[in-house]
Amino acid sequence: MGDSTDPPVIEVADLVRTFGDRVVLNDISFTVQRGETLVIMGGSGCGKSTLLRHIIGSMKPTSGSVKIFGEEITAMNEREMGNVRKRFGMLFQSGALLASLTVGENVALPMFQHTRKSPDEIEEIVEQKLKMVGLSGFEDLKPAEISGGMKKRVGLARALALDPELLFSDEPTSGLDPIMTAVVDQLTLKLTHGEHMTAVVVTHDMTSAFRIATRMIMLGHGSIVAQGSPDEIRNSANPEVQQFIHGEADGPIPLNLSQEEHQHHQLVKPRPFGARHRFHRKTV
Ligand SMILES: Nc1ncnc2c1ncn2[C@@H]1O[C@H](COP(=O)(O)OP(=O)(O)OP(=O)(O)O)[C@@H](O)[C@H]1O
Ligand SMILES: [Mg+2]
Repeated sequence: MGDSTDPPVIEVADLVRTFGDRVVLNDISFTVQRGETLVIMGGSGCGKSTLLRHIIGSMKPTSGSVKIFGEEITAMNEREMGNVRKRFGMLFQSGALLASLTVGENVALPMFQHTRKSPDEIEEIVEQKLKMVGLSGFEDLKPAEISGGMKKRVGLARALALDPELLFSDEPTSGLDPIMTAVVDQLTLKLTHGEHMTAVVVTHDMTSAFRIATRMIMLGHGSIVAQGSPDEIRNSANPEVQQFIHGEADGPIPLNLSQEEHQHHQLVKPRPFGARHRFHRKTV
């Protein structure tokens, strides 16, 4: 793991993002040091993917700062952002493979975009990355011809194509069987331990989370509910954390907010009562 005197790989400070009058990220601050694996967890819709999008610069915050490798990215233009993007890999929640390209071409894409490697070199790296995720020999299939879990793994192979210093993964193991989950977790551990890659992983899978995390953040309603080492989270006195990590239906985390709770919930503003006619029938 990185020396604590090293500048952080990621530094998020006072990050706020609103959509209309809904506050989706509410004053988020944290840092990630080289070699760490930060796991971000929290209920569906609490803002995890939105937070990742802000850290990779695909969304701009309403206010606050995001630094990657010591550089403020919130004010960067596309060209500047392109130089930062070369240094990290991103596995999207949906996989985000290009449907018209084969598996092999999808993995090759970042190398064609960002390097001058020869087609032969690229082919060799594609083969090696697909082998890492247990998909040797699937190069020529199209995304539509492989399973959901396989798409996830191709997405991971593509995220690792440029041997990034920093990897972001949004639900890397959802849809994977327990054995493949362990394979992906071991890959993360190997890359962060052996090669000092830094990882930020969003996951609902608590087995996987506790296997890979060096630190954990739990988000709730757009704020950080708890953060700490895996042991600190495991032993947290916060009932929301305990409910989440044990997957219990009953507890302080609401399944859904009622209209009445909406009125008192500072973060979620309901539609005005008169805002009817949400669905329109097209008149011919
Ligand atoms: N572009 C957008 N415009 C409006 N609202 C958005 C936008 N993107 C995200 N949101 C809202 O932000 C909230 C958080 O969404 P997000 O996708 O970050 O959740 P999540 O924690 O990743 O959930 P899941 O675990 O289901 O993937 C949701 O209420 C969503 O509707
Ligand atoms: Mg998400």
